[in-house]
Amino acid sequence: MVDAPRRLEFSTTLSQSPVTTRRRAEMLADPGFGRWFTDHMVTATWTPDDGWHDAGVRPYGQLSLDPATAVLHYAQAIFEGLKAYRHSDGSIWTFRPAANGARFARSARRLALPELPVDDFIVAIDLLVRTDAAWVPPATRVRETSLYLRPFMFASEVFLGVRPAKEVMFCLIASPVGPYFTSGVEPVHIWLSEKYVRAAPGGTGAAKFAGNYAASLIAQQEASAHGCDQVCFLDAVERRWVEELGGMNLYFVHSDGSIVTPELTGTILEGVTRASILQLASDLGHKVEERRVGIDEWREGVGSGEIAEVFACGTAAVVTPLGRLLWDGGELHIADEPGPVTMSLRTALLDVQYGRAEDIHGWLHRVA
Ligand SMILES: Cc1ncc(COP(=O)(O)O)c(C=O)c1O
Repeated sequence: MVDAPRRLEFSTTLSQSPVTTRRRAEMLADPGFGRWFTDHMVTATWTPDDGWHDAGVRPYGQLSLDPATAVLHYAQAIFEGLKAYRHSDGSIWTFRPAANGARFARSARRLALPELPVDDFIVAIDLLVRTDAAWVPPATRVRETSLYLRPFMFASEVFLGVRPAKEVMFCLIASPVGPYFTSGVEPVHIWLSEKYVRAAPGGTGAAKFAGNYAASLIAQQEASAHGCDQVCFLDAVERRWVEELGGMNLYFVHSDGSIVTPELTGTILEGVTRASILQLASDLGHKVEERRVGIDEWREGVGSGEIAEVFACGTAAVVTPLGRLLWDGGELHIADEPGPVTMSLRTALLDVQYGRAEDIHGWLHRVA
């Protein structure tokens, strides 16, 4: 008989100084994004001899790091992002947490970090969300609020030398959030990065690796300097194929209603929202295609009217229409208003997440 894999056991130590009910209500009334954090967090440690151990919910607080902690030097760090939603009956649900858990494991493999079993990943999230359930904002149709969950893992061993760390820390924190873009569902302006690339073949683009985001910041600075909200990256080899934005996947809606998204090449992050939109669009009767999309096809398609809408998608900003694409010396006007297909997909996704539509694909996971 084969032994069942050992489940990680989590202890619970409650905070002695939680945020007051009144202060929490103020924070939830206007949460912003990533500004406030709940009363607790989860931590666990991994070593080669003991595997994952010392797991538990504990009061949210500072981590004390030795200056020689490996992550500060060699950036061996990955993370995830998903949300918990409150439904109108008060219940709390996460959306496809196993997909995030599986991606976390893939990212860990790529960064030579230990995998956290998907079941333990989900248990950690369930425990934190149940402990801090009062921090999941109330459901409303107009305000898109939720509890953003940030699992992450980093090399916590104290040593200098380039090799995979022999001590690793898993941590999970949570932050009540409103819309990612303060402008709401207005078309955003995108900067086309022609100088910098995000990911190269054989690199780390398909992993949610902290360094990918650090490497994208200079392009994000360029974007901001040109009045843009996000950066669009092209492939590293031909500088011709559209990959994704700094933190979102891209979709093109054609005039015949068909929908195209750049195929996964190993340099694009496999978004959970991207996968969900592929399914929802097909449910709504759209022809959906994953294939390479050239920057010329984008420019010419918008110019001729063949491409009717362009949108970006991701957990944080859900589905966001693109208004303009700017580059050094040029600009493409896409839209002034969110397009109808973009909005119908956005609504379809939010309706499942907030329990307003039937969850026919079994994407929701009940937490409380
Ligand atoms: C680079 C990148 N692409 C795409 C996404 C969208 O992924 P998801 O839909 O899983 O949030 C994210 C966000 O996690 C991201 O960081």
